[in-house]
Amino acid sequence: MTGLELPTGPVATVDLRAYRRNIDRIRTRVAPANLMAVVKADAYGHGLLPIAQTAVSAGVGWIGALDLATALELRAEGIHADVAIFAWLLGPDDDFAPPIEAGIDLGVSTIEQLEAIAASGASGIARVHLKIDTGLHRNGADPADWPALVSRALELADRVDLVGVWTHISEASDAEDTVAIERFHEAIAVAQRLGAGFGVRHLAASAASFARADARFDVVRVGAFGYGISPGGGITPESLRLEPVLTLTASVYAVQDGVARVAIGFGDGILGSAAGLMEVAINGTRHPIVDVEIDTLRVAIGTTTVSPGDTAVLFGSGSLGEPTLQEWGDRLGTIGEEIVTRLSPRIPRRHIHPGE
Ligand SMILES: Cc1ncc(COP(=O)(O)O)c(C=O)c1O
Repeated sequence: MTGLELPTGPVATVDLRAYRRNIDRIRTRVAPANLMAVVKADAYGHGLLPIAQTAVSAGVGWIGALDLATALELRAEGIHADVAIFAWLLGPDDDFAPPIEAGIDLGVSTIEQLEAIAASGASGIARVHLKIDTGLHRNGADPADWPALVSRALELADRVDLVGVWTHISEASDAEDTVAIERFHEAIAVAQRLGAGFGVRHLAASAASFARADARFDVVRVGAFGYGISPGGGITPESLRLEPVLTLTASVYAVQDGVARVAIGFGDGILGSAAGLMEVAINGTRHPIVDVEIDTLRVAIGTTTVSPGDTAVLFGSGSLGEPTLQEWGDRLGTIGEEIVTRLSPRIPRRHIHPGE
């Protein structure tokens, strides 16, 4: 190679048309419940802003941001107050004034958080969703602490608007989810007896929102399925009538002795365990990955004609002969979410917009 023939690096092509179709299908499936599009972790590696904007232009009225910084970024980038932005990962040192003034919905689990919100000095009333732990133990008030939390929120009515009640469930087994749904109903009943009314109740993420009408309540918080990421273990996106959204490609930059070198590696977030287990498609034919280096995949091509500049497709919809994200997850013993969220921010995301 001369200095002018630098390898063309990886590109993640994000088909916002496919995301939009998934969103439309999910909304149909969960109606009359509303959809909250979850965009944590840079929209599962798909690019925060284009994904959130696509959801909003599809008519989605709720965005699940995870943390306050992400929620504020979305507001600053033009997601206006007619769209609710929900943030639930609250730190002890968070300054609540900016999110309250930006009309961010806050997921609150403890009295300490309520007090910090009430003492923030923000102009305006905080929009709060109280979280009950229904068994997952990933924050949320313990049922024993729940009445005190609800009562304190009611006492702080001049600072706190009780918009919602929520929980998160494992979605690992129907039996566990049934217990969690019962506990959620009980917590709502306890709160009602204390005088609290909640306009918005939410519990389900992707799997339960599809599987169970009794899990949907008023809003479902869906991340993975929007991106066409299925739970794996034989459940494909197609079987859910969803489409993969992200296609990962990189260029072949050298070919020698039956091995093609492809310009992507573990430094870009590709799992080293892909060596010996995964394949890439080059010109419609799959070839095995034999080694994952920091910036290179070595791919065995045998006697097939492959040339520098050819595109290797690591995963996508499958239409170019490539494996799907589902296959990567299943074969590497992980989930699609892990593979896409590990992709380095250095990989350019090329978004295909509706209408293109
Ligand atoms: C609280 C909460 N709700 C919903 C989701 C969305 O989950 P999924 O990607 O399975 O739809 C997440 C994501 O981890 C979450 O943390």
